[in-house]
Amino acid sequence: MKNGSRAVIIGSGIAALQAARHLAVHMNVIVITKASVRQSNSYMAQGGVAAVVSPPDTYDAHMRDTLVAGEFHQNAGTVKNLVVEGAAAVEELLKKGLPADRQKDGTLSLGLEGAHSMNRIIHAGGDATGKWTVEHLISLLPPQVSIREHEMAFQLIVKDGTCTGVKTKQAGGQVFEYEADHIVLATGGAGSLYSFTSNQETITGDGIALAYRAGAAITDMEFMQFHPTLLYVNGATKGLISEAVRGAGAVLVDQDGRRIMAGVHPLEDLAPRHVTAFELYKARAKGSEVYLDISMINEFDQTFPTIARLCRENGIEVKKGRIPVAPGSHFLMGGVKADSCGRTSIEGLYAIGETACTGVHGANRLASNSLLEGLAFGKRFAHAVVHADHAAPKKESRTLLAAAPIPPLFERKELKAMMMESAGIIRSKETLQALADCLWQPAQTKGDISGWPAEKIESLFMHTTAYLMAASALARTESRGAHIRADYPLKQDQWEQTWITFEKGQMTK
Ligand code: SIN
Repeated sequence: MKNGSRAVIIGSGIAALQAARHLAVHMNVIVITKASVRQSNSYMAQGGVAAVVSPPDTYDAHMRDTLVAGEFHQNAGTVKNLVVEGAAAVEELLKKGLPADRQKDGTLSLGLEGAHSMNRIIHAGGDATGKWTVEHLISLLPPQVSIREHEMAFQLIVKDGTCTGVKTKQAGGQVFEYEADHIVLATGGAGSLYSFTSNQETITGDGIALAYRAGAAITDMEFMQFHPTLLYVNGATKGLISEAVRGAGAVLVDQDGRRIMAGVHPLEDLAPRHVTAFELYKARAKGSEVYLDISMINEFDQTFPTIARLCRENGIEVKKGRIPVAPGSHFLMGGVKADSCGRTSIEGLYAIGETACTGVHGANRLASNSLLEGLAFGKRFAHAVVHADHAAPKKESRTLLAAAPIPPLFERKELKAMMMESAGIIRSKETLQALADCLWQPAQTKGDISGWPAEKIESLFMHTTAYLMAASALARTESRGAHIRADYPLKQDQWEQTWITFEKGQMTK
């Protein structure tokens, strides 16, 4: 690492903050977010962080659960990095005072979630783990980290194959340009491309679209995880009801009180998410209402205060013992192709957290492995950069692009409905082809977009990321994990270790 290095991190969730605090010991760090630092998916995370902290749990057991949930479409070495280094990263935060929930005897209170073979979910504030982890990370940030809020990255500056900077725009239209040795994408996934989602409105696939436009490799975009239990009121989803609720005993029932998951999977209500989400989808498609029966959970308000408040704010009284639920988009397993140190196909450009696809989650992420990913790979990336022999040589970074005219773009509501309908829980060739055809033109928009209003830029990024999802889902002619094809309902061996990747705009398999 050379003296006076600088890193710019785009995004401000747990991966970003973890990377920032570890990098900042050695260099200046700027964190840029289009929202505020306390407005991220990470901040909203309820369930917790999966980590091996004490016997009888083992790294092998956590790795096995991760691989099984991901349908083995993974890089086993990266899964090991996640489980082992993630546990160490959690231990470090606990030692520094992360206020995790504990039992009366002082030991950690470990929750259970879907597809885990044992209780290993560390949580804080009952069901406010994201909030307390983000607050803790913010409190650990050294002064060399500066945070710029309400500023949106709209273009990566790449010259001769090296990323040397990023251009940003504020809501008022002011454009900024940052040069840096390391540009890090940590903007989260793309949940808000769907009308039913657990995600913040701001999660629009920006990092993926930025990387795609710069020619970086993007992979596994067909794998969007749908969370089975979002609060469902008046035909709309209103936020997450954590899987930890089912870990505490709640069960999924139809309008007549019949158990939906009985006999479907050996783990019943705690089956992997793609299994439960698909069953709920089918029950709703048949016209049945679907509920979480929580009547057996004593002191629900105290155990899950955030969820009880969310229900109450939406007119659902948890004391009645039933919460209406529906599945919605939750987590993108695909993203900017990166190694376990965050390195992408473009020198100087990195991706961490949900924005990245390191091959760790496969076809379906294991519950509560996402905050773990942010902590493990945020730290691993920072460590790799700091210990690299030297930073990439700076190159002349001026590029002159012709102004791009704004192509026809769908209204957001319409785009989200199209994604839900055609690239949702179940997909098929006809609907995916039609969707990909509609989105192709915006996704090919090249040129300078600095003169566009920020709202149009965000919409372009949504269309671009949606195109990558539709085209990838069309190309994977099997069903695996969260990718369920009506016309190819079976898993096929030859696809297990096949990745659909876009690089320099071209798809390869
Ligand atoms: C949940 O609390 O159910 C979500 C946690 C996760 O996505 O891993």
